[in-house]
Amino acid sequence: MKKSGVLATLLPLVAADSDAANPQLRVAFHGDDGMMVSWNTFNHVPRPSVFWGKSKDHLTNIASSAVSVTYPTSTTYNNHVLIQGLKPDTTYYYLPAQLNEDTCYEPFNFTTSRRVGDKTPFSVAVVADLGTMGSEGLSTSAGKGVSSNNILRPGEKNTIDSLISSMPEYEFLWHVGDFAYADYWLKEEIQGYLPNTTVEEGYKVYESILNEFYNEMMPVTASRAYMVGPGNHEANCDNGGTTDKAHNITYGLSICMPGQTNFTGFKNHFRMPSDVSRGTGNFWYSWNSGMAHFIQLDTETDLGHGFIGPDEIGGTEGEGASPVNSKMNAQVNWLEADLKAVDRRKTPWVIVGGHRPWYLSYKNVTSTICWSCKDVFEPLFIKYDVDLVLTGHAHIYERQAPIAEGKIDPRELNNPTSPWYITNGAAGHYDGLDTLQSPRQQFSRFSLDTNNATYGWSKLTFHNSTHLTHEFVASNNNTVLDSATLYKSHKCEWLER
Ligand SMILES: *[C@@H]1O[C@H](CO)[C@@H](O)[C@H](O)[C@H]1NC(C)=O
Ligand SMILES: *[C@@H]1O[C@H](CO)[C@@H](O)[C@H](O)[C@H]1NC(C)=O
Ligand SMILES: *[C@@H]1O[C@H](CO)[C@@H](O)[C@H](O)[C@H]1NC(C)=O
Ligand SMILES: *[C@@H]1O[C@H](CO)[C@@H](O)[C@H](O)[C@H]1NC(C)=O
Ligand SMILES: *[C@@H]1O[C@H](CO)[C@@H](O)[C@H](O)[C@H]1NC(C)=O
Ligand SMILES: *[C@@H]1O[C@H](CO)[C@@H](O)[C@H](O)[C@H]1NC(C)=O
Ligand SMILES: *[C@@H]1O[C@H](CO)[C@@H](O)[C@H](O)[C@H]1NC(C)=O
Ligand SMILES: *[C@@H]1O[C@H](CO)[C@@H](O)[C@H](O)[C@H]1NC(C)=O
Repeated sequence: MKKSGVLATLLPLVAADSDAANPQLRVAFHGDDGMMVSWNTFNHVPRPSVFWGKSKDHLTNIASSAVSVTYPTSTTYNNHVLIQGLKPDTTYYYLPAQLNEDTCYEPFNFTTSRRVGDKTPFSVAVVADLGTMGSEGLSTSAGKGVSSNNILRPGEKNTIDSLISSMPEYEFLWHVGDFAYADYWLKEEIQGYLPNTTVEEGYKVYESILNEFYNEMMPVTASRAYMVGPGNHEANCDNGGTTDKAHNITYGLSICMPGQTNFTGFKNHFRMPSDVSRGTGNFWYSWNSGMAHFIQLDTETDLGHGFIGPDEIGGTEGEGASPVNSKMNAQVNWLEADLKAVDRRKTPWVIVGGHRPWYLSYKNVTSTICWSCKDVFEPLFIKYDVDLVLTGHAHIYERQAPIAEGKIDPRELNNPTSPWYITNGAAGHYDGLDTLQSPRQQFSRFSLDTNNATYGWSKLTFHNSTHLTHEFVASNNNTVLDSATLYKSHKCEWLER
C-alpha cells in the first residue's frame, strides 16, 4: 500500500526499525459493535492508533488509546486499541498506524460478529495446546526423549498451516489455553534441541518462542477474531516438567519468567471482552455471535473452593499458582449470572470452553483431571442446559457422550438433557501427543492419541437452532477424521428453570 497522507501527517510515528517484523497482530470481538485490535512493538507507543474504514482505499476513521503495556523481561510492548460503532457481520479494513514505518503493509481486514439472533449457519475453529511450530517448537526433529510418533513427518502440514489454509471455512478462532509453550525453552535446551543458554539469559529464549508463536498465528489472528482463555502454560514455572538429572537440578521453582508468574504475559497480550460481559480480564467472559452464546471459563484459578493449589496444578508450579484474584466464588457467581441472562430464543446454543477436562479416558491424576472444576461448574452446566463443553490440556482428542454427574445420557446426541463434552488438546506443540487409557472410559465415543500420530483442530458448525456439528480436522491434509452432530430441540428452555 502507498503510505497514506493521513498516516504520515497526523501521527507522530514511532521509529522502530524492527517493529514491522514483529507485529503479532490480532483482533478480538468486543461487544455487539466493537473490535479490539492488538499488536506488539519493540518500543513504547504513546498513542497507539488504528486507521479503519469500509473500503480498503479509504481508511478514513481513526481509533486510538493510551494502552501500550509491557512487563519485566518482555522484549515488546502490547498495544491495544478498541474500534467501536461497527455494524454486525461486516468486513472492515484497518491498519495500525505504527506498523507501516518500514514495511508497507496492505490494510488488513476483519469481519465483526453476527447480530445476536441471526440464524444464518456458520462455523468456528477451536484449538487448545497449540504451541510454536518450527525450529523452536514442533518440527521434523526433536530432542532426546521425544516419541518419534510425535515428530512431524517431512512435509507434514502442522496445525497453524491448516488453520491458515482453512480460514474461509470459519468465522473466528477460539483458543482455550496453552499458547506458545514458551516455558518449554529449558526442556528444549536440556533435551539438546535448542542451544544452551544461561539461566540469566533464559528469558530471551522464552520471549523469542513467545514472539515467534504470535507471529506465526498472525495470518489467522489479523483477520479472524482470536478469542482466548488461560491454560497452565501461561503460568507454569516448571518449564515443561523438567528436571536436569545430569546436574541434579530441578528447575521447578527456580526459573520462573515474570511473563509466566500470575499469567502476566497473558494479561498483557490480550484484551478479551470481559468489561462488556461483567467478567474478569482474559480469564472469564462471554460473547455472542448469531445463534450462539460462548462462555470462556478459567480452570486455572478462582474456582469455588478458592484457587487451584500447587498440587492440583502439577506439583512444581511455584509462585505461578498464585491466584489472579482469589475472591471466593467470584467466577462461579459470574457464571451463574451469565447463564441466567442468556436469552435462548435469540441464542439457543450455549457453548462453554475451558482448559482442563474432567470426563476423560486418562489416568486419574489431578494434574490433568480437574475435579474441582467439575464440582463447581457441572451443576450450573446441567441447571442451565449448556449444550457443549470444550476443553484441552491432555494432548489427545476424545469426543465423549453427553454426561451428567458421571451418568451417560441415554439419549446420546438425540436431544440429550446433559451437556456434551469434547476434549481436543491434539493441536501440536514441541513434544506432541499423550496416551489415553486403554480401554477407554464408557463415555468415550471416538479418540485419537499418540498411537494415531495425528494433529488436528476442532470445527464447530451451527446449522440452525437445533443442529450443531463438531468435526476433528486433521492438520496434515484438512480431512475430517471424526464428525458428530448434536440435535437439541431447544424448546421453551427459558420457561423451565
Ligand atoms: C482479508 O484479508 C485476507 C488476508 O488475511 C485476504 O485473504 C482476504 O482476501 C481479505 N478479504 C477481503 C474482503 O479483502
Ligand atoms: C544442554 O545441556 C544439557 C545438560 O544440562 C545437555 O544434555 C544438552 O545436550 C545441552 N544441549 C546442547 C545443545 O548443548
Ligand atoms: C540432589 O540434590 C539434593 C538437594 O537439592 C540432595 O538432597 C541430593 O542428595 C542430590 N542428589 C544427588 C544424586 O546428588
Ligand atoms: C502474584 O500475585 C499475587 C497477588 O497479587 C502476589 O501476592 C504475588 O506476589 C504475585 N507473584 C508474583 C511472582 O508476581
Ligand atoms: C479419582 O481421584 C479422585 C481424587 O484425586 C478420587 O476422589 C476419585 O474417586 C477418583 N476417581 C476414580 C474413578 O478413580
Ligand atoms: C488410532 O490408533 C489405534 C491404536 O493403534 C487404532 O486402534 C485406531 O484404529 C486408530 N484410530 C484411527 C481413527 O485411526
Ligand atoms: C489425512 O491425514 C490423516 C492423518 O493425519 C490420515 O489418517 C488420513 O488417511 C489422510 N487422508 C487422506 C485423504 O489423505
Ligand atoms: C437444521 O439443520 C440440519 C442439519 O443441516 C437439518 O438436517 C435440519 O433439517 C435443519 N432444521 C431445520 C428446521 O431447518
